[in-house]
Amino acid sequence: MILLVGNWKMAPNKSTEAINLAKKISLSAKTYKKSINTVICAPYIHLPFLIKNIKTGISFGGQNTASSEDVAQTGFINSSMLKSYGATYCIVGHSEVRAHGETDEQILASTISILQKNIIPIVCVGEKERDGHGWYLSSVKEQVEKIFLGVPKNQIKKIVLAYEPVWAIGKNAAREATVAESREMIMFIRKVIADITDEKTAKNTNILYGGSVNEQNAFNFISEGGAQGLLVGRVSLDAKRFSSLMKSISLSQ
Ligand code: 13P
Repeated sequence: MILLVGNWKMAPNKSTEAINLAKKISLSAKTYKKSINTVICAPYIHLPFLIKNIKTGISFGGQNTASSEDVAQTGFINSSMLKSYGATYCIVGHSEVRAHGETDEQILASTISILQKNIIPIVCVGEKERDGHGWYLSSVKEQVEKIFLGVPKNQIKKIVLAYEPVWAIGKNAAREATVAESREMIMFIRKVIADITDEKTAKNTNILYGGSVNEQNAFNFISEGGAQGLLVGRVSLDAKRFSSLMKSISLSQ
């Protein structure tokens, strides 16, 4: 089963637009439900409307959560709030959140708090740039170790990881990552997990690829890039393109 996660980031502006878009995505998701599990991580403010209006085809998630339940955190939301609205997934440690200064410690705390509420964390890791010496491997290793060494052992198998090279994300991306680059890093991440846990856990960990994924390259990231799923930004805001993407990856199963 492929896990396909749409990250809507800070769009759309109106809840009515969000509901219309999700309805269209839900229709396509139902067509491919045998091979694809579709999740939409929407802005918090839309989540209650989406969850109330769309009951089939897709599940919903948040895009981050506070690292503690201390109420004195203006502008934040916590995992209990996500749970109370029926969110079943939550992205943590997205590079756009890390860019605002969120630390590995906070990301670990958020992951633990999400797991405590029985929500599935989608923990993002990825290097800011590639160098010729392989230093980029160490930065990803550190991010993965922080999570897998810190989360209670009995919760580890619930973690979903998303490898998102920061340089390949968004409209200002330097370029798309190649399938070989994705495969190399996903293999490396599995090795890091195996060293902390065991081979079986490493093999069973769901690892997604994200960064400029579209209807043309999605199939290859799944069939050859080592990913069990995808984390998609811009294309998840276009129901037609997202549906073509679903169609293409369903053929890899
Ligand atoms: P794009 O697909 O728009 O590059 O965004 C990727 C991403 O950051 C998903 O979390």
